[in-house]
Amino acid sequence: MEQFKKDVLAGLSSNPKSLSSKYFYDAIGDGLFVQIMNMPEYYLTRAEHEIFKTKTKQIVEELGLKKDRYFELIELGAGDGTKTKELLSHLIANEYQFDYLPVDISQNALNGLKASLTTELPSLSVVPKQGDYFGVLESLKTSDHPKVVLFLGSNIGNMLDDIATKFLSQLSVALRPGDRLLLGVDLIKSAEIVLPAYNDAQGITRAFNLNLLTRINRELGANFDITNFAHLPEYTEQDGVARSYLQSKVAQTVRIDAINQEFKFAEGEKIHTEISRKYNDEVLGRILSKCDFSIHGKLTDRKGYFADYILVR
Ligand code: AVI
Repeated sequence: MEQFKKDVLAGLSSNPKSLSSKYFYDAIGDGLFVQIMNMPEYYLTRAEHEIFKTKTKQIVEELGLKKDRYFELIELGAGDGTKTKELLSHLIANEYQFDYLPVDISQNALNGLKASLTTELPSLSVVPKQGDYFGVLESLKTSDHPKVVLFLGSNIGNMLDDIATKFLSQLSVALRPGDRLLLGVDLIKSAEIVLPAYNDAQGITRAFNLNLLTRINRELGANFDITNFAHLPEYTEQDGVARSYLQSKVAQTVRIDAINQEFKFAEGEKIHTEISRKYNDEVLGRILSKCDFSIHGKLTDRKGYFADYILVR
């Protein structure tokens, strides 16, 4: 709560105004994100699921997994594990020796995942870890076992490039030479395809973005009138970064009791809420040039919308 307050104060006091997308994910936001993943326009989840379903064997090969060599399979931001289950059931059916360590900020998501795996794959050993990514990296260092890390869903796309670089550097330090990272990223493509994914016709993404203000109202005693804000996504193929904003439709003042402060919004003023960076070999190469990872393989879906890169430490 204290951190939330500090971040909201800093974000709304800066020019241009911003709020961190990490605060999208309260119980309501988690539910809306599940709905987004099922929207026809949100191709990312389906494209990556297709890779996991149709290229499972190739994934196992590229990850260098051997049946007689124990490894830890660590998933950062596991969520409901739908895609990973394709890989897990293949590994179990073929008698690979491993433990599955899903990491998520949400204990709720971890409980749901553990429960579903207990019924669907009863012989799988699951060791959930609750925490943020950076915190969990530290705990990885304490184990000597070979590791494979999954970071799927273009979650890295929600980091600015310098944060992504810092994150991958820290991850490489927590791993040993030969360990592998499977990194799922949305690929740079035309605005015609990307923009609707962040502006679905049913308005779920709009509700997801606006929920940030509802959350500030509820948790910090603010009086945002959400009908006075519009959901505004932007993307150009040249830039390769989707950005979401909340735009004030009118000149208005909003009070936040927990901060004991009022914030003025001009008509048309934007609050930046999210970046969703899209990748290609060049963008990833630039980031990796500052980290201890090299590209070993790349798997894409049929349409070439999404890529799972295999990186070797
Ligand atoms: C979680 N993350 C990869 C999603 C994305 O595509 O950037 C979050 C999202 N925001 C709007 N729609 C989905």
